Amino acid sequence: MIVKQHLIFILYSLCAHVFKVAGTKSKAKGSQGQFPITQNVTVVEGATANMTCRVDYNDNTSLQWSNPAQQTLFFGDKKALRDHRIELVRASWQELTIRISDVSLSDEGQYTCSLFTMPVKTTKAFLTVLGVPGRPEITGFTKPAMEGDVITLTCTTTGSKPAANIRWFRNDKEVQGSTKVNATGKSFTVRSSLQFQVDRQDDGVAYTCSVEHVSLTNPYMTTEVLEVHYAPHLEITHSLIIPQEGQYLKLECVSIGNPIPEPVLWSKDGGELPDIERMIVEGRELTITTLNKTDNGTYRCEASNHLGTSSAEYILFVYAKDFPGPTTDPNALGQHGPDHALIGGVVAVVVFITLCLIIVLGRYLARHKGTYLTHEAKGAEDAPDADTAIINAEGNHVHAEEKKEYFI
Ligand SMILES: *[C@@H]1O[C@H](CO)[C@@H](O)[C@H](O)[C@H]1NC(C)=O
Ligand SMILES: *[C@@H]1O[C@H](CO)[C@@H](O)[C@H](O)[C@H]1NC(C)=O
Ligand SMILES: *[C@@H]1O[C@H](CO)[C@@H](O)[C@H](O)[C@H]1NC(C)=O
Ligand SMILES: *[C@@H]1O[C@H](CO)[C@@H](O)[C@H](O)[C@H]1NC(C)=O
Ligand SMILES: *[C@@H]1O[C@H](CO)[C@@H](O)[C@H](O)[C@H]1NC(C)=O
Ligand SMILES: *[C@@H]1O[C@H](CO)[C@@H](O)[C@H](O)[C@H]1NC(C)=O
Repeated sequence: MIVKQHLIFILYSLCAHVFKVAGTKSKAKGSQGQFPITQNVTVVEGATANMTCRVDYNDNTSLQWSNPAQQTLFFGDKKALRDHRIELVRASWQELTIRISDVSLSDEGQYTCSLFTMPVKTTKAFLTVLGVPGRPEITGFTKPAMEGDVITLTCTTTGSKPAANIRWFRNDKEVQGSTKVNATGKSFTVRSSLQFQVDRQDDGVAYTCSVEHVSLTNPYMTTEVLEVHYAPHLEITHSLIIPQEGQYLKLECVSIGNPIPEPVLWSKDGGELPDIERMIVEGRELTITTLNKTDNGTYRCEASNHLGTSSAEYILFVYAKDFPGPTTDPNALGQHGPDHALIGGVVAVVVFITLCLIIVLGRYLARHKGTYLTHEAKGAEDAPDADTAIINAEGNHVHAEEKKEYFI
């Protein structure tokens, strides 16, 4: 039974196969089997496009390529349109391939391959031409900007098709711009703008416009480095925390500002610096080689650029030699900068001590609670073995109850 079924199945599949082969053969021999086959082509502007049309079974019927304007380009191997960019690559009964060199955006469209059977059979192939974006340009920034200015950076790229994508980076971090796409002929002009108020943090920052497109393996990039001018800010740093007589003291007038404020002017108590050999001024630095009580006073440095003037002060208090050290240092109170660390340190110590106290207090309380609890089961400690311990403990409990009764 099983063998019989098997045999029928084999016969059946064999028959099916024979019919299938015969079917395709008869189809191929008839004009229905003659069909032009093409493929869509995508090329970058300026490159060469190969347009291929194939017919697998052809009884010597002519092939023809025509352009989107329905003009015949090649009829078999015969050139029909005078365009030196269009050349024949291969012409046979099975294939008609032509080449269009230096492709422009206007070459884009539907090309038709026709096979002159009765009736004529046609196939369309779409030629897509990619427009390569131009190198991006950043406009809208005139160096230098002043702090507080609102500026608009615009990045423009022309000639892309499809429209290119623009991305902005502030140093290496991506920022969002607003993009507008404008059609110019067959290609696109893409603009992306960033608007922001500049401050001193923007000085020296690089804004990069990156253009991405299908026709580019690596994006095109253009960078604009901002230059922002801002008013100076000065600070005096000092080499001693507790200046004492006879010591060496160096004060430095640290300035930031763009342009860098120059020169730095030093003064003492609103007047000129005393003309003594121990005091040396070299630009931003003022050094007193051997401190003396007479050096007491307010030292001031001042500097300006075209955006403004700034100054900083330092109150010098010279302590006696071998001074054990003051409980309060007026310099620490009057100065900013490095003394913040000192205050921070003091705060940290106070917090630490407070924490220690809390922990110690907490432990002390916990331990007392613990001893109080163990008193209840004190019978366990005196007992020679576990049973007696339980009895003892119970006994204590009974005592407690007795006490209770007694109290009531
Ligand atoms: C077009 O055909 C030519 C010749 O057959 C070949 O050298 C070239 O690489 C082809 N170009 C493309 C884009 O396929
Ligand atoms: C097709 O053309 C070739 C010569 O190019 C010829 O030998 C052949 O007989 C032709 N076939 C048909 C079916 O017309
Ligand atoms: C060829 O391109 C046209 C137009 O873009 C599209 O409609 C069609 O589906 C494409 N054909 C193939 C085989 O990709
Ligand atoms: C393109 O953009 C500009 C400004 O962004 C606008 O004035 C113009 O109308 C747009 N269209 C064309 C076709 O240029
Ligand atoms: C400080 O200066 C005064 C007056 O110039 C001088 O008499 C004194 O010796 C100086 N003290 C020291 C420690 O140099
Ligand atoms: C320096 O200043 C301290 C504190 O103000 C003061 O006690 C001392 O007399 C001053 N010395 C001089 C020479 O002015």
